[in-house]
Amino acid sequence: MKIIAFGGSNSKHSINKKLASYAAHLFQNAEVEVIDLNDFPLPLFSKELEKEIGFPKEAQEFLDKIASADFIVLSLAENNASYNVGFKNVFDWSSRKDKKVFQGKPMLLMATSDGKRGGSSVLEFATKTLPRYGADIKATFSLPRFYDNFNELEGITNEELKQQLLEQIKHAGT
Ligand SMILES: Cc1cc2nc3c(=O)[nH]c(=O)nc-3n(C[C@H](O)[C@H](O)[C@H](O)COP(=O)(O)O)c2cc1C
Repeated sequence: MKIIAFGGSNSKHSINKKLASYAAHLFQNAEVEVIDLNDFPLPLFSKELEKEIGFPKEAQEFLDKIASADFIVLSLAENNASYNVGFKNVFDWSSRKDKKVFQGKPMLLMATSDGKRGGSSVLEFATKTLPRYGADIKATFSLPRFYDNFNELEGITNEELKQQLLEQIKHAGT
């Protein structure tokens, strides 16, 4: 099974990318490819720019990565209770080719932040709305207080939260 994992963020040091990579590597019998939204550099979407330049190859490359996945692990950054601008921009451009951006792929959808709510606003919104865009959400997970509960060597250090994530991975039916 091929997993495409990424953070829904354009931060070069995205904590959501770290969580997505960690969670993807917990799946059994999976080949994991971690992608970075910065590798799909796209100008800020507008209808006028789209008329001028058409559909950018970077958006097609993003759609091709999604197409190559058997399973997607996505962890969303929360900015002002909503999507990170980098994620929203790739999403908007991609949706102009195919509204079903996530192409019916099964998905573990997560969020983390440095605060105690762990990105739960964006996670709740995305859980409700991404299915309209082709995401087959199998399980969700929010990691609060990233810097207290995660380190680069061990991953999730809080045993209860780690068990919750493992349960969700089991629940995802893989
Ligand atoms: C403009 C801005 C808005 C933010 N808004 C929220 C928020 O609404 N909720 C939250 O939990 N964290 C918020 N944060 C903190 C982010 O969760 C934190 O920067 C986190 O590292 C983002 O994830 P990333 O590293 O994957 O980009 C905000 C950060 C920025 C820069």
